[in-house]
Amino acid sequence: MKTTITIVDNLSTKQSSYTQAVDLLTKGEVVAFPTETVYGLGAIATSEEAVAKIFKAKGRPQDNPLIVHIGSKEEIKAFTRDIPKLAEVCMDTFWPGPLTLILPLKADTLAKNVTAGHQTVGVRIPEHTIALELLKQLKQPVAAPSANKSGKPSPTKAAHVYRDLEGKIPLILDGGTTGIGLESTVIDFVSEIPTILRPGGVTKEMLEKVIGQVREAKPTDHEEAPRAPGMKYAHYAPNSPVYLIEDSIAKVQEAVEKIHNEQKKVAVIANESFNQVKAEYFFSLGKKDQLNDAAHLLYQALRDCDETDVDMILVPVLSKKGVGTAIMNRLEKAANGRWFNN
Ligand code: TXA
Ligand code: MG
Repeated sequence: MKTTITIVDNLSTKQSSYTQAVDLLTKGEVVAFPTETVYGLGAIATSEEAVAKIFKAKGRPQDNPLIVHIGSKEEIKAFTRDIPKLAEVCMDTFWPGPLTLILPLKADTLAKNVTAGHQTVGVRIPEHTIALELLKQLKQPVAAPSANKSGKPSPTKAAHVYRDLEGKIPLILDGGTTGIGLESTVIDFVSEIPTILRPGGVTKEMLEKVIGQVREAKPTDHEEAPRAPGMKYAHYAPNSPVYLIEDSIAKVQEAVEKIHNEQKKVAVIANESFNQVKAEYFFSLGKKDQLNDAAHLLYQALRDCDETDVDMILVPVLSKKGVGTAIMNRLEKAANGRWFNN
């Protein structure tokens, strides 16, 4: 299959790009499109055959459910039931935006593979002109996970989607670099106390301001209750192993020297203040303490490592304040528990 990239910013081609995307989706094909978080790979959420193509293109485990994207709040009634009051408040406050709500599923509405057989469904309205226009013209809910090969960092550019899925999908709508750079916050409204299953741009503090007490799921929670099946899979991993390390220029320099003594090559992903470290490669996460910039640059930096010949990647830990919680959540998964000890 030939994969076409269509730039949607170009006014003269704009409507024809949407028409092409809508036609493909209506026919039961998959299409990649930008959102404010990361690029998604969409299919009509009521077609099991179409949704199966998402799992196939990504190599995604069948038991990991997909997020359903809608263009307006009214559409939610068609496939959810018993929406809690606090969930309504969240929708009114944070939609369109990077917040996915897990709600009770109305039986026999969506394709079974969207929810991986669960009686719940994750749903959000993205805050991105291209995603919203596509959903508005299509007038149907779209199931869309991040448009990366399963296990790789989510795509923040059309070129990342192309790198992972070339030849496997027919169309990528190219809307430039995504804004936030990390996936949406996922909050479960089926559990007694609303529970954050995946931290993101909408933080716990922001949620608690409008709905009161919110829990955070521990990474081990899936062993007791498999609410977010996605929590159990390896994620965001470049080809070479990622090691977390203390946030100290001296410690990182020492680590680099030790790695060099073993005749190995290393990349450092960190804020600009670390660029004096003598590693083979340095990928910047922006200015020190600018967590929004770090979120925006993280996946590009992890992907950049795959274009090098390094043996390992060092990442000094970031503060867990605000969006830092989401950044560290992704980095801990990318590192899979590895910590560099001098
Ligand atoms: O920002 C985002 O959320 C992006 C864009 C494209 O919208 N999408 C995204 O999708 O990150 P994905 O599939 O890569 O991550 C979806 C997460 C997974 O961890 C999955 O397990 C969880 O949401 N999820 C989806 N439906 C669920 C459900 N019914 N119950 C529990 N977790 C669910
Ligand atoms: Mg994903």
